[in-house]
Amino acid sequence: MTKAPVRIAPVRKKPAAPGVTFLGAFLTKPGMIGAIAPSSRFLARRIVHELDLEGVRNVAEFGPGTGVISDALIPAIPRGCNYFAVELNPALAKAFRERHPGAKLFEDSAANIRAICDRQGIADLDYIVSGLPWASFSRELQVSILEAIRTVLKPGGELVTFGYKMGTWLPAGRRFHKELAPKYFSRVWKSRYVWRNLPPAFVMHCVK
Ligand SMILES: C[S@@+](CC[C@H](N)C(=O)[O-])C[C@H]1O[C@@H](n2cnc3c(N)ncnc32)[C@H](O)[C@@H]1O
Repeated sequence: MTKAPVRIAPVRKKPAAPGVTFLGAFLTKPGMIGAIAPSSRFLARRIVHELDLEGVRNVAEFGPGTGVISDALIPAIPRGCNYFAVELNPALAKAFRERHPGAKLFEDSAANIRAICDRQGIADLDYIVSGLPWASFSRELQVSILEAIRTVLKPGGELVTFGYKMGTWLPAGRRFHKELAPKYFSRVWKSRYVWRNLPPAFVMHCVK
């Protein structure tokens, strides 16, 4: 008796776990990523808890990475408000798209935020929620992103970002926190540490 041929399903390559993709991105470009692991959901929730999203019209997220802050942020965006993300790293942009297929993502530098807004017909933004690693950036990059932010945030609009204690000790971090942020914004403050994050992080509000 001849046996029916056994059908072997083709082996599908599973997408890498987000943490693995993130670590891979860090090992390839440490200065662009600035952390070895994605933020915790506790930090994500704290950031979103500190936003006043009532009546907002336009919110951008910079450097969403694999999309952990976005997990908390996107569901909190009110109906009628436009949300989009800007991610420069192609591997992380791909991971973000897989995790948040319905969200708008621009694979571009945050330094180009004015042009990104213009392309969408957006005059100004209420909030920029940022995961950018300011403490790893050169002065030129810090300044060019801050200049661009100034052109898009509405008066009273906020850049909400986070940082780590050791980041404030690094020359680039000190420059961002002590010199540049106070120069570019009318009010800057930090909230309590989120300990359930690796490393513990503070949330920083910079009001235009
Ligand atoms: C510290 S990781 C934060 C990732 C994620 N938000 C989180 O909290 O897990 C920094 C992110 O900023 C992105 N990034 C770095 N420079 C950027 C730039 N100029 N424009 C947009 N994204 C950038 C990196 O690729 C990375 O995804």
